[in-house]
Amino acid sequence: MMLSSLGASGTLAALFFCASSVRATVTDYVIVGGGTGGLALANRLTENPRVSVLVLEAGGDGLGNVNISDLALVGASWGTDVDWQFPTETLPVPPGRNIGKVPRGKVLGGSSAINGAVYTRGDTRDFVQWAALGNPSWGPTDFFAASFKNEEFFPPPKNWSIDYIYSDHGHNGLLPTSFGNPAPPIQDAIINSVVAYGGRHSLDNEGGHPDGVAWATHARLPSNATRATSATGYYFPFSYRKNFQVKLFSQATRIIWKSTRGTPVAAGVEYVDQNGNTQVANATTVVLCGGVWGSPPILERSGVGNKTLLASLGIKSVVDLPGVGENMVEQTAAPMVYAFNTTLPLDSVTPLLLNGESLQETFTKGGDLAKLESLFVKPDNMAEPIFQAYQKLYQQGTTWVVGLTNLIQQPGQPTLLAWFGGVARPLSSGSCHITSSDGLAYPAVQYNWFTSEFDIYAASVTLQRIHNFTTVPPLSDWISARIAPPPNVTSLDDIGTYFIENCVQGDHPIGTAAMIPRQDGGVVDNNLKVYGTANVYVVDASVMPFQPTGYPHAHVYAIAERAAELFKAQKHY
Ligand SMILES: Cc1cc2nc3c(=O)[nH]c(=O)nc-3n(C[C@H](O)[C@H](O)[C@H](O)COP(=O)(O)OP(=O)(O)OC[C@H]3O[C@@H](n4cnc5c(N)ncnc54)[C@H](O)[C@@H]3O)c2cc1C
Ligand SMILES: *[C@@H]1O[C@H](CO)[C@@H](O)[C@H](O)[C@H]1NC(C)=O
Ligand SMILES: *[C@@H]1O[C@H](CO)[C@@H](O)[C@H](O)[C@H]1NC(C)=O
Ligand SMILES: *[C@@H]1O[C@H](CO)[C@@H](O)[C@H](O)[C@H]1NC(C)=O
Ligand SMILES: *[C@@H]1O[C@H](CO)[C@@H](O)[C@H](O)[C@H]1NC(C)=O
Ligand SMILES: *[C@@H]1O[C@H](CO)[C@@H](O)[C@H](O)[C@H]1NC(C)=O
Ligand SMILES: *[C@@H]1O[C@H](CO)[C@@H](O)[C@H](O)[C@H]1NC(C)=O
Ligand SMILES: *[C@@H]1O[C@H](CO)[C@@H](O)[C@H](O)[C@H]1NC(C)=O
Ligand SMILES: *[C@@H]1O[C@H](CO)[C@@H](O)[C@H](O)[C@H]1NC(C)=O
Repeated sequence: MMLSSLGASGTLAALFFCASSVRATVTDYVIVGGGTGGLALANRLTENPRVSVLVLEAGGDGLGNVNISDLALVGASWGTDVDWQFPTETLPVPPGRNIGKVPRGKVLGGSSAINGAVYTRGDTRDFVQWAALGNPSWGPTDFFAASFKNEEFFPPPKNWSIDYIYSDHGHNGLLPTSFGNPAPPIQDAIINSVVAYGGRHSLDNEGGHPDGVAWATHARLPSNATRATSATGYYFPFSYRKNFQVKLFSQATRIIWKSTRGTPVAAGVEYVDQNGNTQVANATTVVLCGGVWGSPPILERSGVGNKTLLASLGIKSVVDLPGVGENMVEQTAAPMVYAFNTTLPLDSVTPLLLNGESLQETFTKGGDLAKLESLFVKPDNMAEPIFQAYQKLYQQGTTWVVGLTNLIQQPGQPTLLAWFGGVARPLSSGSCHITSSDGLAYPAVQYNWFTSEFDIYAASVTLQRIHNFTTVPPLSDWISARIAPPPNVTSLDDIGTYFIENCVQGDHPIGTAAMIPRQDGGVVDNNLKVYGTANVYVVDASVMPFQPTGYPHAHVYAIAERAAELFKAQKHY
C-alpha cells in the first residue's frame, strides 16, 4: 500500500497498519544469485520475519532434475541448461592451450547443484592469515563457528570402518554431510600405502588440521545418497516464508544508483526477466552472490572497477576499484591413472579420499626443497599482503598439496584408480573482466596458469609422490599397469610437461572481489561491503583473499553464515 492510498480513514490503527505496509514495499535486501552463498545468506536473514529478501536467480529451480539430485551422475549436468558454460581465454602456458568452456551452476543452488560435492574445511592457520589481512571478523574461531552452523554431519555405519572425529563436524546445520559408500579393501590399501611410503594418515581433515590422507565427506543425504545443495538445505524447506522471495530466470545486469555524489548509494538492481523485459528491483541493501565470474561483471557494468578499463568500454566510473576481477586463483589437477588387476564390485557412488600433505614434507621426501624455495617468488600481479600470508603459511608447513582418488568403473574393463593431484594454493593468478557494456555478455575468464614456475615444479613433485605411493604394497599388489601418464614419463621435467598439457581446472576459482585492504587491490572490507559504496556487498567465492587448504564449497557456506551474523549485527537494511 502506498502512502497516497491512506485516504480519509485517519484512525491510529490505519496509520499503524499503513506504516508497516509501506515498510514492506521497500525490500530490505536484493540478493543477486540464488547459488551456494546467496540462498544460505537469504535463509539466515529471513529467520527474522520482519526482514524481507528478494533473490534474483538467472536459472530455474532444478526440481526433478536427476542430474542434480543423483550424486552418482556428477558431470551429467555439465553442458546442459543448468550450466552457464563460461568460455575461457587461451592460456599463456603452455602457449596456445585453450580448455574451452567450463561449468558453473545456473540454477537454484548454483554450483552446489552441479559440483563434485566434496566437503572440506581449511586449516585454522589459513584464517589467522585472513584476519591478519585486515579482516578481524574472519579469524579461525569465528570462521569455524560459522562453518559448523552449515553442517549436519551423519556418521557412517560402524561396519564401514571409516575414520572420523565427531567433534570436527557441525551437527545442527542445514546441510547434511556424509561419506560415500566404501570400497574396502581398496581404500584401506590406499591409506596404508601412503603411510608405508612415509605419508600421514589424518583421522579427520574437517576440524582445522587437514594434514594427511583422510576420508572426505560429501554434501549428501546418507539415507539415499542424494546431493544436498543450498537449495535443498536453505530454500525449499523454507519457501513458505513470505519474506523470502525468489524470482527465477531473472538475470541481473547492473546496479541502479540512487546517487553517485559523495559515497554512491545503490537504489537496486536492473535485471532481465523471464520474458526478456528489463526490470528494476529496488532494495535498501544490494548483495551480489553471483559467484566468482558473476559478481565482478555486475560491479564493472555499474561503474565499479578499474577506471581505465571501464573508460575503454564507455562506462562511467562510479568507484575506481582496480582490484575488481583480479586475484583469481584456481586449483589445477592432473590425473595419475592406474588399472587394477580386477574389476571391483563398486557401489553406485564413487568413493573419494582427500590427500593433504605439506609441500615441505612432499619435498623433503622426494624433491629439491632449495629449488622449491628459490621458485617461491611473488608474481607481479599478486597483492603484497597476500604473498606475505602465503609465505607465513608456507613457513608454518601448512598443507599445499591436495588430491582426490577416484575409482572409475567401465563395463567389462578393469577398475581404474585415478588420483587427481595438484597444488592447493598456486602462486599464478588470473582475472575476470567484462569486454563490453552489454549486460548479458560473458566476461573474459583468464586463468593465467603456470605463469609462476613454482606451480609447475610443485605439481610435478606432487604427482611423482603420488606415483611413489602407488608403487608400494599393499596398493601396488592390486595394480596391474599405469595408464596415464605413459610409464616412460618419470622425471620431474617430463611430469611437469605432462601436468601443464593435461591438467584440468579444479572448478574452484576464488578471489575476484578479494577481502583485502583497498590500497592493496581489495574490493570488499571486513564486513564484505564494496569499498567506496554505501550499501553494496559481495557474499560468494569471490571474496576469499586466498584459497583455504582444501576446496572452496564449504568455505562459501561459511562465508554466507558469517555474513548473516555480521549483517544482523549491523542491521543495515
Ligand atoms: C563442476 C564443479 C565441481 C566442483 N566441485 C567441488 C567440490 O567437489 N568441492 C568443493 O568444495 N567445491 C567444488 N566446486 C566449487 C564450488 O561448488 C564453488 O566454489 C561454490 O559453489 C561457489 O559458490 P558461489 O556462491 O560463489 O557461486 P555459485 O554457487 O555458482 O552461485 C552463483 C549463482 O548466481 C547466479 N547468477 C550468476 N550471475 C547472475 C546474474 N547476473 N543474475 C542472476 N543470477 C546470477 C548463478 O546462476 C548461480 O545460481 C565445484 C564447482 C564446479 C562448477
Ligand atoms: C541429464 O544429463 C544428460 C547427459 O548430459 C542430458 O542428456 C539430459 O538432458 C540431462 N537431463 C536434464 C533434465 O537436463
Ligand atoms: C554393514 O552391515 C550392513 C548390515 O548388516 C550390510 O548390509 C553391509 O554390507 C555392511 N557393509 C560393510 C562395508 O561391511
Ligand atoms: C532422498 O531422501 C530425502 C530425505 O529423506 C527425500 O526428501 C528425497 O525425496 C529422496 N530422494 C530420492 C531421489 O529418493
Ligand atoms: C527505484 O529506484 C530508482 C532510483 O532511485 C527510482 O528512480 C525508481 O522510481 C524506484 N522504483 C520503484 C518501483 O520504487
Ligand atoms: C587497469 O586497466 C588498464 C587497462 O586495461 C591496465 O593497463 C591497468 O594495468 C589496470 N590497472 C590495474 C591496477 O590493474
Ligand atoms: C619417487 O621415487 C623415486 C625413485 O625411488 C625417487 O627418486 C623420487 O625422489 C621419489 N619422489 C618423491 C616425490 O617422493
Ligand atoms: C588382485 O590383487 C589382490 C592383491 O594382491 C589379490 O588379493 C587378488 O586376488 C588379485 N585379483 C586377481 C583377479 O588377480
Ligand atoms: C614415451 O614414449 C612415447 C611412445 O614411444 C613417446 O612418443 C614419448 O615421446 C615418450 N615420452 C618420454 C617423456 O620419453
